[in-house]
Amino acid sequence: MANLAQCVNGLHFRNPVLPAAGPNVRTGEQMLAAAGGGAGGIVAKTVSVRAASDPRPSIRRSGLGLLNCETWAEVSPLEMLPELKKAKEAGLPLIASVGYSPEEVAFLGELLEREVAPDAVEFSIHYVGKELDPLLDVAKALRRSTKVPIWMKLSPSVPDLETLAKAASPVVDAFVAINSLGPALDMDVESVSPLLGSSCGQGWLSGPPILPLALNFVYRLATVQDKPVIGVGGIERGVDAVKFLLAGASLVQVCSAAIRQGHGVYGKIAMEIDTWLDEHGYASVEEIRGLYGRRLKERKRIEGVPVMAVDRERCVACRACLFRCVSGALYFDGSKAAIHAASCIGCGFCRDFCPAGALALRDRRGDGSGADG
Ligand SMILES: Cc1cc2nc3c(=O)[nH]c(=O)nc-3n(C[C@H](O)[C@H](O)[C@H](O)COP(=O)(O)O)c2cc1C
Repeated sequence: MANLAQCVNGLHFRNPVLPAAGPNVRTGEQMLAAAGGGAGGIVAKTVSVRAASDPRPSIRRSGLGLLNCETWAEVSPLEMLPELKKAKEAGLPLIASVGYSPEEVAFLGELLEREVAPDAVEFSIHYVGKELDPLLDVAKALRRSTKVPIWMKLSPSVPDLETLAKAASPVVDAFVAINSLGPALDMDVESVSPLLGSSCGQGWLSGPPILPLALNFVYRLATVQDKPVIGVGGIERGVDAVKFLLAGASLVQVCSAAIRQGHGVYGKIAMEIDTWLDEHGYASVEEIRGLYGRRLKERKRIEGVPVMAVDRERCVACRACLFRCVSGALYFDGSKAAIHAASCIGCGFCRDFCPAGALALRDRRGDGSGADG
């Protein structure tokens, strides 16, 4: 049993898996259910100074992801206060979520601290635009309005992540990345109508399709500044969360998977992280945080264009690699996969489909160095 506990901004999280702001953490009962489902802390649905009014349908399944046109909570901040107070009964760190303008977050920061005393306040920049100064103005306004830690939640549309991260880091206590991605569109081909009820059917994409984008944000944030990073985007299994921790995240958040699978998903992911740590000989989450960046520095890169090598002992002759070879270099020699080295462009794609681990990239000069691990 590994140590899953994490300490961020002086707050103790029993495990690193939290809900992300979304419709399933809007009421006190829902937030308590998230705690009961094994979450390490609670993040609430975003509230602004007035209740939102979202078009319907507002949440749809789109391929492996979700498409939504929700904005923020469809209740006033005063209606949200008893819900947040109820959530505190869980005894876990409670992170309120607010938006959007400097004036709005300042009002909400002060109100929440006085009436609820959350452990931290996350603010979303989703509707603030892309210019650096207005984004910093929101952070500074919230900073002035409350003494609790403030977390800046980034949208994937920020144009210059490094500049924003460096400028905001002295003002905020942590970064959360990322919000859903868009605008995006999907439709029903039978009725030729949009999935969502927004005016052009556009919405925001979340779930597994955005994971690599979110992971890249987290890695860059953890690299360019020192404040804790909280990863969110497409996490539904322990191994997804492990990627974010390796990239430098201290905590992760989960929205779409919890909407699809229910509140038990937080505990399931936490348990799978634990299993992964045990199986790989790590005693704690802390041991793997940022390991990806450290390994990258030590990694020996293959010089020039590598070539795919077939381990004929391991090859199970399933032929799964053959038609995935984009350069036509792989062929079946009658009993096993084989390769025309001169035709191989070293792209690496075929190895992702080998069930037996029989394919690996090698240095073309044949000195055996530079295996692609
Ligand atoms: C239906 C829905 C509503 C959401 N509402 C909010 C919100 O109120 N505030 C916010 O910051 N993010 C909101 N998000 C974004 C999520 O918190 C999260 O950042 C994003 O969905 C990526 O994570 P996921 O792939 O685990 O869903 C919402 C996402 C969905 C799917």
